[in-house]
Amino acid sequence: MNETIYVFHALPEMEEPVLAGVFQYGSPGGPGKFRYVRSYLERSNALPLSPVDLSSLNSVTVQAGDRNEGLFGVFRDVLPDFWGRLVYASNNGIPPETVTNIMLMRRPDPLRVGAIDFSDTDRVPETMALPEIQDMSRLVTAAQEIFDGQEGRLRPDERQLLLQGSSMGGARPKANVLRNGKLYLAKFPSKGDRFDNARVEMALSDLAHSVGIETPKTELVSLPDGRGVFLSERFDRVPVSEKPGRFYRKGFISALTLLGLDEMENPFGSYPAIADAARKIGIDCGPDLFRRMAFNMVVRNTDDHLRNHGFIREGTEWRLSPAYDLMPSPAVPGVGTLFDLSIGIGKLGRKATFENALSESARFGLNKKEAEEIFLAVGENVAKWRTFMSKHGISDVDMERFSGSFTLSVAGFP
Ligand SMILES: Nc1ncnc2c1ncn2[C@@H]1O[C@H](COP(=O)(O)OP(=O)(O)O)[C@@H](O)[C@H]1O
Ligand SMILES: [Mg+2]
Repeated sequence: MNETIYVFHALPEMEEPVLAGVFQYGSPGGPGKFRYVRSYLERSNALPLSPVDLSSLNSVTVQAGDRNEGLFGVFRDVLPDFWGRLVYASNNGIPPETVTNIMLMRRPDPLRVGAIDFSDTDRVPETMALPEIQDMSRLVTAAQEIFDGQEGRLRPDERQLLLQGSSMGGARPKANVLRNGKLYLAKFPSKGDRFDNARVEMALSDLAHSVGIETPKTELVSLPDGRGVFLSERFDRVPVSEKPGRFYRKGFISALTLLGLDEMENPFGSYPAIADAARKIGIDCGPDLFRRMAFNMVVRNTDDHLRNHGFIREGTEWRLSPAYDLMPSPAVPGVGTLFDLSIGIGKLGRKATFENALSESARFGLNKKEAEEIFLAVGENVAKWRTFMSKHGISDVDMERFSGSFTLSVAGFP
């Protein structure tokens, strides 16, 4: 069957998105085809949906490749992963494994990451002002109920809150919340957690900020039972002044899309390849990217996959997004001292060693000495990780789980 999805784009300084084009998808499997509509091309402020795919503003029909189930990368980036699909399945009373990309594209979601929205009609999706969050605790419980498959107990208002913004990627339970006029991505605790993820993510985000990495503004909310909720202010939204709960949108693509890869091809991606590809489209982020790579190495963040790196469009310019989803993998000293990151680092592939990190410094626009200096400065700061964890109330027991995670920062250099 041929499906038609209307694609909307929120342009700079515009509260409502406009119809940008039409996506046609032959189910199942695609690949899809996209065409910008004439009314969009005639706008003086029209911008391409992405600097990589669909980057030419003309009326030619473009066919997607076979990757990402025949979707353009920029579309796949603004669809949910495990968590959002679970919420959709629960809301529609269907098994999660039967949720398809096209089902997720028929329903508009003004809170999805970036500036694109989809609908099965050509009417501009309505953007309701988001209400302020009243009861975080209840929302966390509701999310847990979805996780546990007890969705029957959700109240309609809770269901609505969880549904709005369920297009955000990632596996952890989350929601978009408005708090004191700001829009946050709230990451919830989950029953199976082995430590207080929210507090650890707070500490890591602070630690990253302390070494000169741009991070979103973050906050921690403590639930009555003591567990934390991690709030990360949406870096792809700008509040509209005098209109509480309303936002302008910034564009978003992941590094996966920048490299034109499929999710299964993640290990073929690398930090130097991201720097090269970014430079090709006029984004000079080599040194920043090198710093993030060094940081992920010394904190043992092995979940640094290509969708955990992003680029945003502010106004008409694309740039590296603030860093998100920074988590150390637990490790105790002496066990598996050698580890790989999730994408390539240097000439020795994904191996997290100092030598490997420096091996491609030129591709980051750095000479060996500059790269070494950045790496050592990051390592020196990160060696103070316990101070950052204590500040956020992480228990001694939890802290010990990470006592082997920061070994590179403390002793890893020749
Ligand atoms: N502060 C933020 N502002 C805007 N988008 C964000 C922010 N933090 C994360 N994202 C987007 O939301 C997705 C899910 O967040 P992430 O922290 O990666 O969750 P998970 O731990 O479930 O993978 C990311 O892949 C990114 O696209
Ligand atoms: Mg993630």
